[in-house]
Amino acid sequence: MLGPVLLAASRSDRMRRLVAAAPVTRPVVDRFVAGDELAPALDSVRALTDSGREVTLDHLGEDVTDKATATATRDAYLRLLDALGTEGLAGKAEVSVKLSAFGQALSSGGHDIALENVRQVAEAATAAGTTVTLDMEDHTTVDSTLAILDELRQDHPGTGAVVQSYLFRTEDDCRRLATPGSRVRLVKGAYKEPASVAHQDKREVDKAYVRCLGILMAGAGYPMIGSHDPRMIAIGQHLAREHGRQAGDYEFQMLFGIRVAEQRRLAEAGERMRIYVPYGADWYGYFMRRLAERPANLAFFLRSFVPG
Ligand code: FDA
Repeated sequence: MLGPVLLAASRSDRMRRLVAAAPVTRPVVDRFVAGDELAPALDSVRALTDSGREVTLDHLGEDVTDKATATATRDAYLRLLDALGTEGLAGKAEVSVKLSAFGQALSSGGHDIALENVRQVAEAATAAGTTVTLDMEDHTTVDSTLAILDELRQDHPGTGAVVQSYLFRTEDDCRRLATPGSRVRLVKGAYKEPASVAHQDKREVDKAYVRCLGILMAGAGYPMIGSHDPRMIAIGQHLAREHGRQAGDYEFQMLFGIRVAEQRRLAEAGERMRIYVPYGADWYGYFMRRLAERPANLAFFLRSFVPG
């Protein structure tokens, strides 16, 4: 029940200041975020890849409202890709981007500004031997994000996208995206969406997830199962077998710090397992979405306020 309240708070500047100022916040943030800077994030990448997991890195940030910050986001990703290349990590690590951090939400020319910024990141990723995946944000951004995906894939066919099963439109998007070479991460969806565009009942979101997974597994693309849900993982494995896919013809993805034992178990069982590693100082929106999606995460945060 608190989920919608927390999701609304994730976009409030006042709450951002309050949460960031609380001294107990940091240790809880550290459970979900691999540090404010690139160096500790790269340490986490090395630890994950040494244990047989792969990585997608997210330089945290979203909803930028000026061009200079959008350019700074692009530059942070260029530094990240340079480091992945130099450190020999590009074979096991790719990057995830939020287009709102690249200027997509700017009132004048946001779509084109985001496209130009992310195109340079895609070029750097291709040069380093890795790929970019476009995270999906709230429903108002989906058309623009999928149009940018189509543009990028002309020169960088490995560019991936995320689709959210809570949106009514997503089964159609899956059908359109399930084509050769297409990388698609299926998630349930993490934003507060109105009933006019999205399922509100968790059971309906789960059923839609299974239908979308069926479409992606039956298609010719590369499905990326982004979920911590044991049922979705089991169904993913079942559908993969049914459609003759071997491990590596699809992959599982989970978030940094969440269900770590299960991440290891799947990797040790021979599944391709990729971890989404967020880093950077702008962790507030990401952190609040993690609290919103699971009461246990929120309880962990609230318990840290209790002394002793
Ligand atoms: P859900 O929250 O529905 O929980 C179902 C079950 O999973 C639980 O009952 C429990 O059994 C298990 N579980 C879940 N979390 C657990 C935990 N912390 N510990 C133990 N068990 C747990 N969203 C978005 O809108 N756009 C995006 O681009 C992305 N990107 C993205 C990348 C990756 C790699 C992942 C894994 C997720 C995203 N998401 C996302 C977030 C996604 O939309 C969703 O909010 C979360 O993954 C939560 O949904 P789940 O399917 O994991 O399980």
